[in-house]
Amino acid sequence: GETKRQKLDGEERRITVVAHPNIALIKYWGKASEKEMIPLNDSISLTIECFHATTTLIARRVNEGEESGDTVSINGVDIGLNTRFHRVFKSVRDLLSDRWSFSVSSSTNFPVAAGLASSAAGFAAIAFALGKTFDLPGEDIERLARYGSGSASRSVLAGLVQWKKGEEGKESHVISHFPADHWPKLRLVILVVKEEEKAISSKEGMERTARTSALLQDRIRRNGEKIKGIIDSFSAHDFPSMAELIMRDSNEMHAVCLDSYPPIQYLNSTSWSIINLVHSFNSEIVRAAYTFDAGPNACIFTLEEHVDEFRTLVSSSFSIGENAELKSIAVSNLGQGPRIVE
Ligand code: DP6
Repeated sequence: GETKRQKLDGEERRITVVAHPNIALIKYWGKASEKEMIPLNDSISLTIECFHATTTLIARRVNEGEESGDTVSINGVDIGLNTRFHRVFKSVRDLLSDRWSFSVSSSTNFPVAAGLASSAAGFAAIAFALGKTFDLPGEDIERLARYGSGSASRSVLAGLVQWKKGEEGKESHVISHFPADHWPKLRLVILVVKEEEKAISSKEGMERTARTSALLQDRIRRNGEKIKGIIDSFSAHDFPSMAELIMRDSNEMHAVCLDSYPPIQYLNSTSWSIINLVHSFNSEIVRAAYTFDAGPNACIFTLEEHVDEFRTLVSSSFSIGENAELKSIAVSNLGQGPRIVE
């Protein structure tokens, strides 16, 4: 209508959006192309409701010859734009007839350095904000998110989201199999683990694994059956089956990291204590499943009725606090996709 057109004709457009990080049940590890951000295998994830990035985008029309001068600040700190940001902004400019500059300010309610896929929430928010500002179709939004960070493309949808690697003649894309409320009792317990030193980035780690690990080939070969196993068990609310697939896939991702040369280690002794704790919690029936990304923090899937018992067990097994083994515990429902807040 009229108001929308007025807004679109303006020299400056502003939007604020929220997006959630996601946690992969079957993980993305390795790229067929860094340039196009094409993964070697499909991955599948859910978003974490209690964590979010809130991102304000200001787009300004710039005149012929003026510098575009994009800026990004995260939690109040201006950051130098790396290749990923440049690629996202360049790709959106390529889609637009006028010239625009972008200024992004993002804040997260979770530690960015904790490796909790914060880049996923951040880039999903930026891509969604750009998409809504310029009325871009969904496939452009997910591609912009992917250009920022591969896993970010999964945060542009809600529910059980599969990122398909794409094939000959079919671009890499994401699809949602079930809405988040398909399994209302599913919960995530996030254990933020104290990290001694900054681990190798997922970008570098994946590159090394793809180049040096022979085991990775076997992992890729079995990807289809694992994705199907997750979709089927999620569909049927079959927690034990889904849990075993999740834990085995996490272990396997960390195994191909260890098979890389030189080897890559993301799990520390606290991570291993968590793994052992979950297996003892599961000794009679499988009630919890751990998964770890490119860092020592654990994301535990469980059901509503087991949260209190699991949390009590964790509290009695670890010291918790800013300088303790575990920095914090959060319990979350499954999240939605990105949304406009202003
Ligand atoms: C271990 O999406 O952070 O979290 O595409 O290079 O930005 P880039 O990597 P990123 O990798 C995430 C890897 C993972 C597993 C996953 O989320 O699937």
